[in-house]
Amino acid sequence: MKIAIGSDHAGFQLKEELKVFLQEKGIDVKDFGTYSEESVDYPDYAIPLAESVARGEEKFGILICGTGIGMSIAANKVKGIRASLCDSKYSARCAREHNDANVLCLAGRVLKGELAKEIVNVWLNTSFLAGRHKIRIDKIINYEKK
Ligand code: RB5
Repeated sequence: MKIAIGSDHAGFQLKEELKVFLQEKGIDVKDFGTYSEESVDYPDYAIPLAESVARGEEKFGILICGTGIGMSIAANKVKGIRASLCDSKYSARCAREHNDANVLCLAGRVLKGELAKEIVNVWLNTSFLAGRHKIRIDKIINYEKK
């Protein structure tokens, strides 16, 4: 499995931690930056990552900023992206089961590393349930086609 990961300065430390965590699982990780704690603008990382996931180059993306909010707003502007800000294992499970979310957004200034890893684990191991949820996702996809 290939996963894209990206952050701004506020998410940099957590990005580095999660990158190692994923690589230790044998996952191929593409790092979209940023590469230091120098202040940067989150859309410059969210949009290229989201476009890459939308093209199918990676199965999922993980985006981290201070709150996860800016990253989710920016990533959701890209057609085909369903980015979800998750702060718990429950929200991660629902994001995959109900929303077929393909980008996980995390709050680097809020989440502790251990909880972030648990959220990522749930995300990676949870499949879309389809059924009634697919009807709802299809409505979003149809709107994007307009
Ligand atoms: C950076 O200070 C902060 O605004 C950013 O990381 C993010 O939280 C935006 O949503």
